[in-house]
Amino acid sequence: MEIVILGGSRQIGKLAADAIEQLIRRKPDAVLGLATGSSPLPVYDELAARHEQGLDFSRASAFALDEYVGLPAGHPESYREVVRREFTNRVNIKPENVHGPDGMAADVPAACEGYEQAITAAGGVDLQLLGVGTDGHIGFNEPGSSFASRTRIKSLIEQTRRDNARFFDSLAEVPHHVITQGLATIMAARHVVLVATGAQKAQAVRDFVEGPVAAICPASVLQFHPHATVLLDEAAASAL
Ligand code: GLP
Repeated sequence: MEIVILGGSRQIGKLAADAIEQLIRRKPDAVLGLATGSSPLPVYDELAARHEQGLDFSRASAFALDEYVGLPAGHPESYREVVRREFTNRVNIKPENVHGPDGMAADVPAACEGYEQAITAAGGVDLQLLGVGTDGHIGFNEPGSSFASRTRIKSLIEQTRRDNARFFDSLAEVPHHVITQGLATIMAARHVVLVATGAQKAQAVRDFVEGPVAAICPASVLQFHPHATVLLDEAAASAL
């Protein structure tokens, strides 16, 4: 793992955007893996600014990491909507090339299998952007997730529901179930760029960077990734 400690989220956004820009220039039809949450927002802001300067996403495609189960299409906090609002609507990626797990699927296992097939058919993810949960989750792979896992339904632990309640009117509205790419799905991406900021992430960062590789800390699997870049501010790096 390559660990880079930077002065703040703007610099983190710029460095992550540099990696994405280099990829898109080298491979215009690149496949991007998109994360939600607050951490990637400076990356999306920077990419939107670079698009204004001419960075072209017209041949790129994108796959979201995860989705809540049961939020109807168009719900402002469904990750499909968040990804659109925060990133894909701000650049010229074609809407039909932006994919996410279907949280309203009648047949969830079939939808998960279909999502895996769509990623494979697109040629696999070139660069996966990630945040990390305070419990060390990536995507919505909560502690105990199998390192061999693929896209599937998961339940959220209370800590994650509470962490994400700020996006909803109340904790009661945060769904209990999600569909997430598995840890093996994430590990298949060619380059993984994880972004973490703030003191509330310091323990999770220490655990996954310096702790043992263990299912109790899902992000620790990235220690086995051949090309993982971790971008931190000083607060998130403070327990290293
Ligand atoms: C959610 C998402 C994760 C994200 C995490 C951290 O649980 N499923 O992909 O990494 O939140 O979010 P934040 O960056 O807002 O702290």
